[in-house]
Amino acid sequence: MCEGAKNVGVSRVLYVEGGTPLKGELRVYPAKNAALPILAASLLTPEPITLVEVPRLRDVEVMLELLAHLGTQYAWEGRTLHLQTPEIKSTHAPYELVGQMRASFIVWGALLARAGEGHVSMPGGCAFGFRPVDQHIKALEALGAEVWEEDGTFHARRTRPLSGRVVFDLPTVGGTEQAMLAVALGGEATLVQAAVEPEVVDLGHFLALLGAEVEGLGSPIVRIKGAPQLKGGTYRIIPDRIEAGTYLLAAAATRGSLTLEGVRPDHLDALLDKLWRSGHRLEVGEDWIRFRATPDPAPFHVEAREYPGFPTDLQPIATAYLATVPGQSTVVDRIYPDRFTHVGELARMGAELYLRDRILTVQGRRLHGAQVKALDIRAGGALVVAALSAEGASEIEGVYFLERGYEHLTERLQALGARVHLRENPVALAAD
Ligand code: EPU
Repeated sequence: MCEGAKNVGVSRVLYVEGGTPLKGELRVYPAKNAALPILAASLLTPEPITLVEVPRLRDVEVMLELLAHLGTQYAWEGRTLHLQTPEIKSTHAPYELVGQMRASFIVWGALLARAGEGHVSMPGGCAFGFRPVDQHIKALEALGAEVWEEDGTFHARRTRPLSGRVVFDLPTVGGTEQAMLAVALGGEATLVQAAVEPEVVDLGHFLALLGAEVEGLGSPIVRIKGAPQLKGGTYRIIPDRIEAGTYLLAAAATRGSLTLEGVRPDHLDALLDKLWRSGHRLEVGEDWIRFRATPDPAPFHVEAREYPGFPTDLQPIATAYLATVPGQSTVVDRIYPDRFTHVGELARMGAELYLRDRILTVQGRRLHGAQVKALDIRAGGALVVAALSAEGASEIEGVYFLERGYEHLTERLQALGARVHLRENPVALAAD
């Protein structure tokens, strides 16, 4: 036997014993995709910032590591985060950090605003199709920055405060946030065909708290007039509509019942409408949703689009749910037409799925447990939902992705009665 074969490591898997309806109550955590740009925005001011209730997720840790590299000092106090960036120590966001998470790319605009230049490695992120950054570059150029690319790093520099009119070719969440950060400190912009997602609006509210004038949030034309100096302040991030939607779909797939608290039902209109039309019972208050599943739901068509359309981040998870609903459903994703890495894995659990010309046809049936692998955050969410509803046990690899998007997933599911736990499986490492 060669020496290398003795090398044994561990791979963490989520072990799920399916078939138990989820039942109970859950308080929704704050939104990862609102927290990340707000953290980047903290670079804009030397004053202290307090963020109440920040999600304790791997993506947040990566962003904090990047901010610390750029000059931010931070401290956790429970789930509250205190941040301060007295000065920018580096204007370079290195590959080791930006490569792990696409959202870190938007520190570029903040660095450019605060330090006059920013150098950011090409972003990484979830592996579902091509995700360009041309609109980020277009925005910074339209605002008067000099932008160039060299050896896998994007560089930008300005000689005066950034200002101008940015006409996006398509609504982009990250691109809109990038432009907002670039002008909030001393600049000025009109953003045309801006993204209207609640996370973009939340960033706008945070920038307003710091002293920028922001108009038109939630509409396709946003105007920002930056302040010459931004203040500090205390801010509470919006609830995570994708986490909330994932648990609702898990309750639907297991034919259970769930009360969500601390949620924004208006951010979930597209999903709630589908669930209601599928035959489930829903009661909605200002900040709560009560869900009770029907035992014989109807299939539906999902077309993921920009907000307020059905969110692409819930498309894989809705697909998993539909795979349990007898009858034929169809799924199309207009934001990421190739976001289907979950399809092959769901098929291992017995799902009947046919992908042709970027239209997924789902023939629903009872699923069975299997060994599967998450290849991105929301594909992971889809596999968890499928495994919870399935007959028998599943092992989900790719826990890393789940931890990027779902805080305390195992504990939260256990509290809702699911039979799940994290397990460490020994794996043979490559031979020497
Ligand atoms: N696009 C371009 N050029 C650009 C930027 C985007 O063509 O320069 C295209 C994309 O390829 C896509 C569309 O525009 O077809 C929308 O992409 P967007 O820029 O809006 O996405 P993002 O900002 O990179 C955020 C979320 C994603 C979510 C998308 C869409 C964060 C940190 N990420 O990404 O969330 O899927 O918006 O809503 O906010 C997740 O949480 O798992 C996740 C991937």
